Amino acid sequence: KSRNITDSETDGMKKIPSTKRETAAAFLKKVAKEFGFNSNGFSVYLNRNKTGEILSQNKTLSLLKIKHGDMLYLFPSGAPSSSGEVMDTVQEDEIDQYLAKQDGKIYRNKDPQLCRHGALGKCVHCVPLEPFDEDYLNHLDPPVKHMSFHAYIRKLTGGADKGKFAALENISCKIKSGCEGHPPWPEGICTKCQPSAITLNRQKYRHVDNIMFENHTIADRFLDFWRKTGSQRMGYLYGKFTEHKDIPLGIRAEVAAIYEPPQNATQNSLELVDDPKAAAVDEIAAKLGLCKVGWIFTDLLSEDTRIGTVRYSRNKDSYYLSAEECITAGYFQNHHSNPCRLSRDGHFGSKFVTVVATGGPDNQVHFEGYQVSNQCMALVRDECLLPCKDAPELGFAKESSPEQYVPDVFYKDKDKFGNDVTFLARPLPVEYLIIDITTTFPKDPQYTFCSTQRFPIENRDILGEIQNFHSLATYLSQCTSTAFLDIVSDFHLLLFLVTNEVMPLRDSIGLLLDAVRTSNEDLAQTWKKSEQWATIEQLCSTVGGQPSSSLGYGAMGGPSVPASSSAMWSCLHCTFMNQPGTEHCEMCSLPRS
Ligand SMILES: *[C@@H]1O[C@H](CO)[C@@H](O)[C@H](O)[C@H]1NC(C)=O
Ligand SMILES: *[C@@H]1O[C@H](CO)[C@@H](O)[C@H](O)[C@H]1NC(C)=O
Ligand SMILES: *[C@@H]1O[C@H](CO)[C@@H](O)[C@H](O)[C@H]1NC(C)=O
Ligand SMILES: *[C@@H]1O[C@H](CO)[C@@H](O)[C@H](O)[C@H]1NC(C)=O
Ligand SMILES: *[C@@H]1O[C@H](CO)[C@@H](O)[C@H](O)[C@H]1NC(C)=O
Ligand SMILES: [Zn+2]
Ligand SMILES: [Zn+2]
Repeated sequence: KSRNITDSETDGMKKIPSTKRETAAAFLKKVAKEFGFNSNGFSVYLNRNKTGEILSQNKTLSLLKIKHGDMLYLFPSGAPSSSGEVMDTVQEDEIDQYLAKQDGKIYRNKDPQLCRHGALGKCVHCVPLEPFDEDYLNHLDPPVKHMSFHAYIRKLTGGADKGKFAALENISCKIKSGCEGHPPWPEGICTKCQPSAITLNRQKYRHVDNIMFENHTIADRFLDFWRKTGSQRMGYLYGKFTEHKDIPLGIRAEVAAIYEPPQNATQNSLELVDDPKAAAVDEIAAKLGLCKVGWIFTDLLSEDTRIGTVRYSRNKDSYYLSAEECITAGYFQNHHSNPCRLSRDGHFGSKFVTVVATGGPDNQVHFEGYQVSNQCMALVRDECLLPCKDAPELGFAKESSPEQYVPDVFYKDKDKFGNDVTFLARPLPVEYLIIDITTTFPKDPQYTFCSTQRFPIENRDILGEIQNFHSLATYLSQCTSTAFLDIVSDFHLLLFLVTNEVMPLRDSIGLLLDAVRTSNEDLAQTWKKSEQWATIEQLCSTVGGQPSSSLGYGAMGGPSVPASSSAMWSCLHCTFMNQPGTEHCEMCSLPRS
């Protein structure tokens, strides 16, 4: 009752269980599902030479003389294309759609020494190279250890025009559900439902090849939190994925802003707390043409506070990312998976990057970029990986328990005699899980947001940097001679305008964000005439433009409490019920009268 299908070129052979009375149409539907194609992305043939096509029709398999155990051949249909126009229901990221259309070849000039042909000729010394050419990548300066993800796809598909296709497999470490031959784990398991053992290998490709902060100010303002408090800090990187031209078919994560979510940190710990604004931030970013491209955290320790040096603590003898950080990175990557047509469930890997701000060998702050491998993502997703308590550089593959079956996890290394030896991943050096990504700043600063004044960054109340209508008034008073578009072109300000509790922008927000996204001063001017902006300006003029701390809103204290009044009072501006004795509303910080 089962039939084999192979794609003949890659070794993607699959068994498709079916019955004699099944129609060809129903059978092809099953095949599509099994291989992750849409129904017209491929054809199935009786013969390897593409004869005897099985058409989608109302004829049974027995009528078509297809028997149990027959080998059939599947080919992507339509014009030969590199990655096959299959699974067109998956909406890939724009950058992936763009790169899939590029030819990616590495063109070379005629070599004056080696080429012995005319100007138009080509020979082995000068024909274009494939984007995955390892020799080429190794000879770049600095050498590139990982090919780009799109180069990897080209490699799997045999170059740009060979018409092969690749199916990318999402690793699973879980028992396949629905196995009926035996009682569920821990009473039973069989070869059909047992996940296979995993041998960790260094991933050959990477989903992101470069991380670029638009300018130093962005990173510097983030570091300021640590400089001023000594507490570590975490932020989400918002930006875009663009082409990274230094590497064939490469992808760059460009960072335009860092959003700092609510968190609870000390000098040596960092804990995220629930963020009620998380969804709003993503939505605003999307309307500005940005997305969350990764996260950044500090691991900084002052070496000499007088000259501002920091300790060099992460290196090849200690670790680059701790196992715990790898697990967090894996968690984030799983939550930001990469839409991909070549994967059965429409996702493969992730473009979400991790940046650590830490001391370098020169005792200055360095930004180091990483991702964890897709194998690590799977281990994290299926809860198979633990950090080692006493060694940050070591992870530990869980053992099976009655609650959870965990496949064996191995890694290969050389023993002291130089032989390849397989080790059980208990423990496991995290270098088997991480991929490094160069992190850069452009020579000429770039910017998405053109504001030159600084509106306070969110969730920094502990520093006395508070977002409220005082700080907005102050900010506006600093920008009197600036074009309105420049004034509103600040990520943190826009977040405040949309998410503040007193006067959150609602309907007209789209127009404002459009103006900023397209840098359209006319649009910004139109929005400026809106009723909402008039109200905001009015609120600002009521509270005045003094720095908030001079009104008693320092890091610690609220306003001074006059002894007289003893009743709760409702704010005229936002109706919040305030504690007795206060003169400014706790919610909107506007004065009581
Ligand atoms: C295709 O392969 C089948 C089976 O191997 C063979 O019978 C047939 O003659 C081949 N047709 C062509 C056109 O090569
Ligand atoms: C397929 O064939 C069966 C019997 O031959 C018939 O009952 C059925 O209506 C047909 N279905 C279609 C979609 O033609
Ligand atoms: C922050 O951390 C401290 C100490 O670990 C804890 O007492 C406090 O409850 C935490 N606050 C939040 C909001 O999680
Ligand atoms: C991978 O497959 C698992 C099921 O085994 C699924 O839950 C998960 O969403 C998939 N992940 C990705 C990134 O495709
Ligand atoms: C850096 O980029 C940010 C975000 O686009 C922008 O607000 C800031 O003005 C830029 N700074 C410089 C020096 O270009
Ligand atoms: Zn030549
Ligand atoms: Zn089973």
